[in-house]
Amino acid sequence: MKTVILDHPLLRHKISLLRDENTGTRDFRMLVGEIAMLMGYEALRELPTESIRTKTPVSETETAVISGKKLAVVPIIRAGLGMLDGILQLVPVAKVGHIGIYRDEQTHEPHEYLCRLPDNIDKRIVIVPDPMLATGGSAIQAIDLLKCKGAKDIRFMSIIAAPEGLRALQEAHPDIEIYVGCLDERLNDKAYIVPGLGDAGDRIFGTR
Ligand code: PRP
Ligand code: URA
Repeated sequence: MKTVILDHPLLRHKISLLRDENTGTRDFRMLVGEIAMLMGYEALRELPTESIRTKTPVSETETAVISGKKLAVVPIIRAGLGMLDGILQLVPVAKVGHIGIYRDEQTHEPHEYLCRLPDNIDKRIVIVPDPMLATGGSAIQAIDLLKCKGAKDIRFMSIIAAPEGLRALQEAHPDIEIYVGCLDERLNDKAYIVPGLGDAGDRIFGTR
């Protein structure tokens, strides 16, 4: 099991801005993208490389390039879409899948409504971004689904997690890697993260 709680001044700064209730849709969206890129940098730290010969204007040398391992980014819709472009800026050739899950407002149970994945998902490193890990229900269901379709190397990324959700995800899927931007205090009685940032999907898309 690998869980990384990221600790970087740039991330702490950007997450503080994200939490602020006065941050508007445009800035919120931009910050989510920037944070996703910083988190993606960490999640892809151990990406395999291979040597190639390169001729610089001065001499020929051995250099490293990303090896053939295929990547897929599979955001959990809706809010995970806000993190997609930030990750694609790091790995523009990655294929993109979509998993649609919404949380019932009363029961907080996840409900899946869409699953479209790139081919050969079993041979890819699969990055699953979703800004919020609250009860963990949505992430667990998304990863159940990915494993059902054959995915093996799965890396889940959330900007803010509640301890309850992180524990539940670790217990349900001890074999995946989890990257968290900030571990918050707890869930409230509506299963919202405290202090959190509110409803990530609504803040990214300017709804409600
Ligand atoms: C949010 C968030 C996660 C989920 C987390 O999505 O983006 O997917 O809640 O909660 P959980 O850990 O308790 O499952 P939401 O259901 O609000 O849907 P949306 O992204 O379409 O707004
Ligand atoms: N989903 C969100 O968007 N925010 C929370 O705090 C919990 C679930």
